[in-house]
Amino acid sequence: MARVLVTRRLPDGGTDPLTAAGHEIVTTDDDAPLTHEQLCTAVAEVDAVVCLLTDRIDDAVITAGVPHLKVVANVAVGYDNVDVSAAAAAGVAVCNTPGVLDETTADLAFLLILTASRLSSTAEHDLRTGAWHGWGINQYLGRDVHGATLGVVGYGRIGAAVARRAEGFGMHVLHHTRNDTGAPGWVADLDALLAESDVVSLHVPLKDETRHLIDARRLQLMKPTAVLVNTARGPVVDEEALAIALEGGEIFAAGIDVYEREPEVHPRLLTAPRTVLLPHIGSASQQTRTRMAQLACEGAVAVLNGERPPNLVTP
Ligand code: GLV
Repeated sequence: MARVLVTRRLPDGGTDPLTAAGHEIVTTDDDAPLTHEQLCTAVAEVDAVVCLLTDRIDDAVITAGVPHLKVVANVAVGYDNVDVSAAAAAGVAVCNTPGVLDETTADLAFLLILTASRLSSTAEHDLRTGAWHGWGINQYLGRDVHGATLGVVGYGRIGAAVARRAEGFGMHVLHHTRNDTGAPGWVADLDALLAESDVVSLHVPLKDETRHLIDARRLQLMKPTAVLVNTARGPVVDEEALAIALEGGEIFAAGIDVYEREPEVHPRLLTAPRTVLLPHIGSASQQTRTRMAQLACEGAVAVLNGERPPNLVTP
């Protein structure tokens, strides 16, 4: 039996793989996030950690876990919150939750494509606040989604799931990745894809190379009628540059689910026109969040059994 730190309360059934394998779950009573110091202290007492993307698992946390800690299982597909190199160097395995959240996240990306293009958030806000005084032929004039060109940036499982939805909506779909996918619509040059797209949806992981991938220069390449959607990671977009682009009409609208300094949102983004802002809910359906929790726990159980889990990210 191993001791497994579960940093926050997971959806019902989420920790079943741990209990089924007979492991002891160590957790806090009040579901409060652990400070970095508390994480370091807690990690020193356990063999495995099941954590969330809000937990910063850096070198200090990994080092505090040595020599007992075997595995860090992140309940998210993105693992930029975990120092994977430090973990690998310390012989600690890292797992994530690929595959189970693709369709749910793609649904949300599509929701943002539709909402941002058709200005439905602004229109609903006006209705609810009494600012709508009757139908008008020039009110809330958005951009058509059908017939528009969608540029998918990053074409992994989620990007491809968004592309499938777009086909059904009658969009023309392009995608950009550094290496040729061999799939129709691949555009080698990101700048060219940005210039050609009516809607740009971001699906790249956060890495050094993708930090501020969409910056002021690239926003200027986009059409003034274009819509930008980010359900990937906040730092992929320079938030201040995006706010300036929206204020200046350099692009038409934005749909954003992730932020550079969550839970902070850049104040200029909060007041920027035609901007839909959601609080990082890409994978937030009951079924998917439960499955994510279970998959992370299954990865931890496998490593504790001395097996190689399919969702291992450490080399
Ligand atoms: C959510 O943002 C995830 O990476 O799973």
